Amino acid sequence: MDARVTNAYSGEIFDLWDTYKKVVVKDFMFHAALSEEVERALRARFRGGDFSLLDLGCGDAHVFAPILSRVPPASYKGVDLSDTALALAAENLKSLPCPVRLAHSDMLSALADGVTYDVIHSSFVLHHLATEDKAEFFHRAARALAPGGVLLLVDTMREENETREDYLKHYFDWIEKDWTGLSRAEKDAIYEHVSTSDYPEPLSLLERQAQAAGLERLAGDIPHRWHHLMRFERA
Ligand SMILES: C[S@@+](CC[C@H](N)C(=O)[O-])C[C@H]1O[C@@H](n2cnc3c(N)ncnc32)[C@H](O)[C@@H]1O
Repeated sequence: MDARVTNAYSGEIFDLWDTYKKVVVKDFMFHAALSEEVERALRARFRGGDFSLLDLGCGDAHVFAPILSRVPPASYKGVDLSDTALALAAENLKSLPCPVRLAHSDMLSALADGVTYDVIHSSFVLHHLATEDKAEFFHRAARALAPGGVLLLVDTMREENETREDYLKHYFDWIEKDWTGLSRAEKDAIYEHVSTSDYPEPLSLLERQAQAAGLERLAGDIPHRWHHLMRFERA
């Protein structure tokens, strides 16, 4: 990891793996709708499927793998800080008809090796970085995008007028009320993880950081409560 990078993510979400898997399968974080939108964006831009892809914080690729089997890239590189996740991703991605590389790496370091990609994708990871590292992320992503490339960023974002404290309170109230089928211990483990590791920003701040890095946001993305897909290309 870069020495100057501060990553709020210190734990292993994959210690919470069974719980996270339930959250994804029950679609509490809108993975289904967001991944449909990601698939649509890939199809719209790369009809022929001939694109190189970098997936930052790929996790186990459980959600992304089926999309990639329908819209196969020319090459796939996934990076993550969790070896458990990377082992699961290797299994989930093994039938992709393209070269697949998986690496234990921090997302910012993975953007700094001089390689460019047609698609940079990151889903529910950026909120782990400190605010200034999010700005650095956009600078590095802009440099790592090939001409005509697109950055697909899925993440939680707080409302414009919400402090982080308010956000945590509202998000946890919602989990308590609507995330049915999770035990007390599972919900408490989620609260602990989110309280210590999640630093979502308002969408406008991310948009300003991206703009300062020379990226333009594409219009038309629909929010799902605090969960968004934002698409960017080089201005
Ligand atoms: C909530 S999971 C998301 C996994 C998957 N992308 C998804 O959408 O389901 C967050 C993942 O990001 C990884 N992660 C957290 N901080 C990271 C960083 N700075 N660089 C690379 N991976 C990171 C975690 O290990 C975890 O696998």
